[in-house]
Amino acid sequence: MITLPAGYPTDLIAAFDMLKLRKRLGMDELKVLALVEAAGELFYQSMARTARTDEAKKLLTRTSQEERGHAHRILKALQILGGESLILPESKDNPLAQNVPGEIPLSGEFLSMLEKAEFDGDTHYQTWADSEPNAEIAKLLRQNGAEETRHGERAQQIKRLESFA
Ligand SMILES: [Fe+2]
Ligand SMILES: [Fe+2]
Repeated sequence: MITLPAGYPTDLIAAFDMLKLRKRLGMDELKVLALVEAAGELFYQSMARTARTDEAKKLLTRTSQEERGHAHRILKALQILGGESLILPESKDNPLAQNVPGEIPLSGEFLSMLEKAEFDGDTHYQTWADSEPNAEIAKLLRQNGAEETRHGERAQQIKRLESFA
């Protein structure tokens, strides 16, 4: 099971902020990223719970499933790099998931921030892919990145659906 490597904060945002400072991802960084993405699944589930429209709920649920898919792509990258197959912890054992509230209220301001964070996530994934010598791992990183842009676009869409824009 993946655990948080030493030196990383247990706060989701702070842990991701630390990853952003890395040009290239090694084993430890990939482990943190897998935990970030797994916590991302919960984060989106908590938003889906408070959405008023079915359409927005559906989009948020789809994004939450894709965040879990991102965690699985990172597991694949870890396997390529380290040769051993690791598994994701249950949410209760993911240190980065502990501060994610069960419900996250939506607002225009929050969705704008989310949109920016997702586009930003793509940029970071592409930067990491650019520095990654293993083509298979680079491809996995690029796939995750492309989907983060889609998540950002969905955040815009949800703003309209929930009448914040
Ligand atoms: Fe993601
Ligand atoms: Fe995302």
